[in-house]
Amino acid sequence: MSKIKDPSLAEKGKISHEWAKDHMKILTNTITRLKKSQPLRGIRLGICLHITKETSVLIMGAKALGAKVSVCCANPLSTQDDIAAFLVSNGIDVYAWEGQTTKEYDWCIEKMLSHHPHIITDDGSDCHSKVHGDSKFSSLKIMGGTEETTTGVIRLKALAEQKKLRYPVIAVNDAYTKHMFDNRYGTGQSTVDGYLRAMNLLVASKRVVIAGYGWVGRGVASRMNGMGAKVYVTEVDPVRALEAHMDGYEVLPMEQAAKIGDIFITATGQTGVIRKEHIVKMKDGAIMGNVGHFDVEVEAKFLLHKSRSVREIRPSLDECSLNNGKRVYLIGKGRIANLVAAEGHPPEVMAQSFSNQLLSIIYIQKNYKKIGKKVITVPPEIDRQIAVDALKAMNVKIDKPTAAQIKYAHSWD
Ligand SMILES: NC(=O)c1ccc[n+]([C@@H]2O[C@H](COP(=O)([O-])OP(=O)(O)OC[C@H]3O[C@@H](n4cnc5c(N)ncnc54)[C@H](O)[C@@H]3O)[C@@H](O)[C@H]2O)c1
Repeated sequence: MSKIKDPSLAEKGKISHEWAKDHMKILTNTITRLKKSQPLRGIRLGICLHITKETSVLIMGAKALGAKVSVCCANPLSTQDDIAAFLVSNGIDVYAWEGQTTKEYDWCIEKMLSHHPHIITDDGSDCHSKVHGDSKFSSLKIMGGTEETTTGVIRLKALAEQKKLRYPVIAVNDAYTKHMFDNRYGTGQSTVDGYLRAMNLLVASKRVVIAGYGWVGRGVASRMNGMGAKVYVTEVDPVRALEAHMDGYEVLPMEQAAKIGDIFITATGQTGVIRKEHIVKMKDGAIMGNVGHFDVEVEAKFLLHKSRSVREIRPSLDECSLNNGKRVYLIGKGRIANLVAAEGHPPEVMAQSFSNQLLSIIYIQKNYKKIGKKVITVPPEIDRQIAVDALKAMNVKIDKPTAAQIKYAHSWD
């Protein structure tokens, strides 16, 4: 049933899976704890996530808890083909390979949905959107879903506002133990990784412009700052802009930043953040890329189709010679650079995000009837449990409030 690039990569994928699994104790401890009770027995789970070694640990975990899993990818360029092969060799239906056209990407989502999932786990909500926008899928009986990222949650909330949401969805992104760690530390580190792999240039002393000072932007700024970059921030939200200013970064509009930046990183979840009018003002040699979910933040169409010439200068790095004589560079064709040019988040971070996913999937299965057709946040008891599991896995011990402290916290006088 599956369609992947090369089944002979399964052994390589297995080694990669084992490396990730060894560093995802929070998730593997949870799977071990729940395995006996088989909470997902009889459930068909449809997964639309980046197919990485970390995701394979979640998928194999859901299978171990009783689910029948089918999988497609959440981005045409982010699949690790050896991992897809490993999953297929373990009886998972997978429709994913690296380097898909948009049409193929769409086809893979439809194939995954042809398995009639009871629960859908998505990253960016392309799959949830298809279920809602394509009449072919109106007969699917879906209990509910989960959503991994900020952009996907925004799309689902828009559906709920218009009273068009067909089933309950847990916004896994909104759990503290997800966005504070995954979006900040995970994307912070893997963005540096992706940019370094693509350009292999010195970061120290470079002017790095970061668009968006949300969870992702803050993480990227702190890591780039740690490597000696001069960090500049662009924002549209006054509170976030103030925070960036207080954190010691120079805040300015993109119009000005375009002229001085050496390296540009968009992390807003918005469209048209770096546009033609900014690109033509950039210095010769400027490098730009995006780590927001969709490839709409940098005007890649202008760079790739309106430049005088475009050539691939290194893997995941295109040189675009503009009509004004300057050469500028685009990482990963403007797609999510930490996944396209590197391997996404490190396993320790994904262990936390995917523990949230797994416990949320189980929660949906048990509670979907009483939640109703809305987007809810991860229940606080799950968020807390994950923090407890994470501290345990990292061997970190904390204090307990004393009786006097509990009394003090509840007194008014
Ligand atoms: N690359 C990854 O692995 C990864 C991981 C997590 C999230 N994401 C994605 O990254 C994006 C940002 O996520 P987040 O959690 O930081 O969201 P967030 O909402 O916390 O932050 C986004 C910030 O961008 C700012 N912004 C919006 N429009 C802007 C513009 N035109 N110019 C400058 N700033 C602007 C907002 O004011 C906000 O402060 C989303 O698309 C999310 O899905 C990617």
